[in-house]
Amino acid sequence: MDTENSDVFLDPTLVDMKTLSAVAYNYRWATLPDGVIPLTAASSDFPVCSAITNALKNHVDAGYFCYGPNEGLPQFRSTFATYFSEKLVRGLAYCNNKLELEQQEDNTTTLYGASSIDPGQVMATNAAAAAVYAAAAATILEPGDEALVMSPVDFLLVDSVIALGGVVVRYSIKERLQNGDKSRPTFDLAEMESLLTPRTRMLSICNPHNPLGRSFSYIELSALVEFAERHKLFIVSDEVWCDVVHSPRVHLPTMCISQYAAAHTYTIFGFSKSHGLEGLRIGALIAPNEEKLAKVLMLSNTSTTANGASVAAQIAAVAAMTEAGSHESGWLASWRLHLHACVLYTVTRLNAMEGVIANVPEATFVVWADVSSLLYPDNDGDDGGTHLVNDDAVATVDIEPEFVLMQWLIHEHKVAIIPGLDRFFGPGSIGHIRISVATSKPILDTALDRLELGIKVWPAARKRALHDARVEAVKAQGAMKT
Ligand SMILES: Cc1ncc(COP(=O)(O)O)c(C=O)c1O
Repeated sequence: MDTENSDVFLDPTLVDMKTLSAVAYNYRWATLPDGVIPLTAASSDFPVCSAITNALKNHVDAGYFCYGPNEGLPQFRSTFATYFSEKLVRGLAYCNNKLELEQQEDNTTTLYGASSIDPGQVMATNAAAAAVYAAAAATILEPGDEALVMSPVDFLLVDSVIALGGVVVRYSIKERLQNGDKSRPTFDLAEMESLLTPRTRMLSICNPHNPLGRSFSYIELSALVEFAERHKLFIVSDEVWCDVVHSPRVHLPTMCISQYAAAHTYTIFGFSKSHGLEGLRIGALIAPNEEKLAKVLMLSNTSTTANGASVAAQIAAVAAMTEAGSHESGWLASWRLHLHACVLYTVTRLNAMEGVIANVPEATFVVWADVSSLLYPDNDGDDGGTHLVNDDAVATVDIEPEFVLMQWLIHEHKVAIIPGLDRFFGPGSIGHIRISVATSKPILDTALDRLELGIKVWPAARKRALHDARVEAVKAQGAMKT
């Protein structure tokens, strides 16, 4: 695709800076110093599809804000079942074609999993985040139960297990050598086997993957699902990004991979990434069957109404599913094309910067970049700026170079990124930054110009920046003690 093709990029005048400055939280416009461009939380700078705002206006005009059913409005559940079933059919068609192309060697007939879901398996949730927690509640039944969770990956998949007293065991997703070439970041089954214990109950999958932008292939997913089957594990499959998959990849829902997957997978969906509804807090959980859904409703406190999705948000989501277009047409297709152009453009710009390595994401609108050579240069005698002081407290204080880079970029170059920190993405994220690109082309251009300049002068500024961060950390510690 021609990344400079202005027909693909959305009209930049649609971005309403005045409103964003007031309402865009979570490390974005409303939270940063004036003039800083946030390439931070994965949210959009564009307004949502007008069909969604119209549906909300009609709901407000009717003047009723009644209780809804705990599991979600019937129209939400049935619309969602149809919407997601279409993804299953599309995924299965793709599997069939792909397998033909790859000519399965053993000539066996592949028995796939779910080709449709029933509304009775669906529950409306307070965004994807609550679905992640509900899925953990359904699978981590006793304190000490273990979950295999990717590293790196979005922190919610970790925190939800810990909140239940579960134990997180990380399996790494990284580039590996395959026939002498580097693979795309992926897992290693031998490593995963070595992490199993009698307490392992759940395999967590994030597909499409935040922050790596992977859309896992049939071969990868079937290996994960077979692993789960061999070890009798439940699967939690976070598919919140499944409507932001870039051609030619096609999203394969985990539950369509095999009969085991259909019967043991809790699938997470949300409208924050694809439709920009993050502030409405609306998502969905798909349980393997109605009986299991009834249990999740109870375990997640949804049956007591302490949890659950607002009726207004469900009405917006129904409009999103029925009127905002699809993968191929309408608002969603244009949005996806814009995002694809933005990620391609960003990766090209990043790879032209000395010390930055970025892969093209197959999905999502975040770009993950390796900046480890800038943060951890292995030049002899480099002390990261500690020679600048002879105060022991300052010299030995622990700081995170990723975090320092983020702060320095904000203050010196007016652009914000998300640092690869253990608490955000796990130990596999060290030495990286994440850049969210769901903005207009002109804003993206300016942000990348600023980043480029920052990255260029960082090697000279690094020691001073690390030193200043240490001094600040010591001051903060002192302040805490008094
Ligand atoms: C993988 C993943 N799961 C869940 C979420 C949470 O989404 P929501 O805002 O719908 O709760 C995110 C948000 O970035 C995510 O990337």
